[in-house]
Amino acid sequence: MKNFLITGGAGFIGGNFVAKVLREELGKVLVLDKLTYAGHQATLRPWEEHPAYRFVQGDIGDRDLVRRLLPEFQPSYIINFAAESHVDRSIESAQDFIETNIVGTYVLIDEALSYWQGLSGDEARSFRFHHISTDEVYGSLGATGYFTEHTPYAPNSPYSASKAASDHLVRAYHQTHQLPTAITNCSNNYGLYQFPEKLIPLALMNALEGKPIPVYGDGLNIRDWLYVEDHCEAILRVLAHGQPGETYNVGGRSEMTNLDLLHTLFQCLKDQADLIQEHSDYRVDIDYTALVEFIPDRPGHDRRYAIDTGKIQRELGWTPRESLRTGLAKTVTWYVTHLDWCREVLKDNYDRQRLGSARRTVSGQ
Ligand code: NAD
Ligand code: DAU
Repeated sequence: MKNFLITGGAGFIGGNFVAKVLREELGKVLVLDKLTYAGHQATLRPWEEHPAYRFVQGDIGDRDLVRRLLPEFQPSYIINFAAESHVDRSIESAQDFIETNIVGTYVLIDEALSYWQGLSGDEARSFRFHHISTDEVYGSLGATGYFTEHTPYAPNSPYSASKAASDHLVRAYHQTHQLPTAITNCSNNYGLYQFPEKLIPLALMNALEGKPIPVYGDGLNIRDWLYVEDHCEAILRVLAHGQPGETYNVGGRSEMTNLDLLHTLFQCLKDQADLIQEHSDYRVDIDYTALVEFIPDRPGHDRRYAIDTGKIQRELGWTPRESLRTGLAKTVTWYVTHLDWCREVLKDNYDRQRLGSARRTVSGQ
């Protein structure tokens, strides 16, 4: 049994990871989460009474708090999901991205180092600081090719630049102090509990409500979609069997243009019309395709991401289990049967308006 300190556990991927650890009885969980607009107790509600689960609301950049929690909880693993994660918000203002993704990660890993230096034997050897990162640090691809672990970093948005900076810090703490770290750079996730600001849950909710579905630019940007449960499994493999100091790319081998993705989503909605009628008052005779509205492109919009997953496949035997079609069907089923969750996380928080559209004319926050 291990002790998992999961930062950002009230968010999308972190919340799915908490569920996986507790469901599979892998150990004790302590969630450290600031509960920003993207973090919600509603995501963790199924675990509130679980004896192996504990929640602390707080900032990964709060040194005193982190310094107190580490010796108290004695983590075997620190998995850092906590981040500002939405590209469009980083275009509006990069401030929180710098504070959490860079400074926060620095404070967390610096305290992790002090804590790890106090461990010995097997506990010290098997300890991991696992940093969750993104394929966006590699920049944008042309029509061909894949990101490998050796692709040079070339981040294009304030979000990806802040993630790149945090990756470099994590790498440096391994090189300089031998802290046993791991970094995973993953492609676009989708699945249960994703905040409806990202393309899939936003389009899903707008489609159900018969509202316009905003498509940036020509809709031909390509992303490599991965079901969140597959990402969580990859993280567990890296924790258990990855080499300290290594980076692993994680992806779905499921490249698609945004327009093709939306059409696949619309088909899933049509397939589940009976379920939608059972769980809501939404109309099911809508022509979802007609809701697509082309709007001005995202500034600095990366054209294509694609991941070479050869390393994690060869070394750790990981491949995604879910296809985009099966994963999207599960996702649609979950949202349709959890509309209360959507309403709760959006309430007084975000009304699905366009973010990050304009070129900045004034400086500041
Ligand atoms: P999310 O926005 O859904 O959740 C982020 C969580 O972090 C929230 O619960 C939030 O409250 C918490 N948080 C933010 N600032 C904090 C702070 N200072 N201290 C403590 N908690 C804080 O994000 P997500 O989509 O689940 O992404 C999780 C991680 O995975 C991020 O590091 C992101 O960069 C990375 N990632 C995401 C994707 C994706 O497609 N969503 C893909 C690859 C990598
Ligand atoms: O690649 C991994 C990254 O994937 C993660 O690091 C990020 O945290 C995560 O947010 C995601 O970034 P993207 O920018 O790719 O995701 P998003 O859902 O915002 O956009 C997906 C694509 O859809 C992208 O090409 C922009 C486009 N888009 C997005 C929104 C929100 C639209 O066309 N319309 C929209 O309304």
